[in-house]
Amino acid sequence: MSQNLSPIDTAKFVSAKRAVEFVEDGMKLGLGTGSTAAWMVRCLGERVREEGLQVSGVPTSTRTAELARQQGIKVISLDEAKWLDLTIDGADEFDPEQNLIKGGGGALLQEKIVATASDRMLVITDASKQVDCLGAFPLPIEVIPFGWQTTKMLVEELLGSMDVLGHSASLRMNGDSAFVTDEGNHILDLHLHRIGNARQLAMVLNQVPGVVENGLFIDVCDVVVIGHGDGKVETRDINAGTTEEEQIDLIESNNIFSDLD
Ligand code: A5P
Repeated sequence: MSQNLSPIDTAKFVSAKRAVEFVEDGMKLGLGTGSTAAWMVRCLGERVREEGLQVSGVPTSTRTAELARQQGIKVISLDEAKWLDLTIDGADEFDPEQNLIKGGGGALLQEKIVATASDRMLVITDASKQVDCLGAFPLPIEVIPFGWQTTKMLVEELLGSMDVLGHSASLRMNGDSAFVTDEGNHILDLHLHRIGNARQLAMVLNQVPGVVENGLFIDVCDVVVIGHGDGKVETRDINAGTTEEEQIDLIESNNIFSDLD
């Protein structure tokens, strides 16, 4: 099965595989959401089953909670955990300062709460998500359903005075209906094309009434693990100022693909 993985899935898998090497016995973990994070949950499940690793995980979505339980990982709430040792999650974009856009999967609110409540956040990604400047990926913001059209108008007006190239917002849909997050809110995707000052934008967006949170993660990510289609993995630690490279053996990991056949 591993031979049938596309280069992009191989890249996601190897970043996830490398990331779970950071997990130590007894840790309380934040479990991210998305396709890369799903690989991470499977890789973590493999360590739990094969090594008897004792960890507990706080999932950032109902999807991740379900997968974690299937994988035999102990699931707890953030209120039970209170604080976490490590969060591992995907991202939609990351820049040279390791600032992120997240929320492509609609789970940004729980993801931000969980990542912020962690000693370290580790992002797993493929190289295509690396950008010089954030903003090509539409920036998701979570808004409460009450008066969302007014919130959208206010946000678009605000964008007119910000250092961004585009000013339009669109309501995320799920078929014919508005997408609903795990917290019962909606998502507006902001088409900015280029964000000149991500730190400032992250602060002012949250001042608009009706905006619950935005998908800019500024100074949250400590380590980025970048997977490549040939199995190579680059690990960048912004605090240590180090970059390490290694090759992940896909053959050794064959058993993890068996549930996907
Ligand atoms: C979920 O809301 C997101 O923040 C994801 O972490 C992000 O969209 C990356 O997802 P993929 O790993 O599926 O690309």
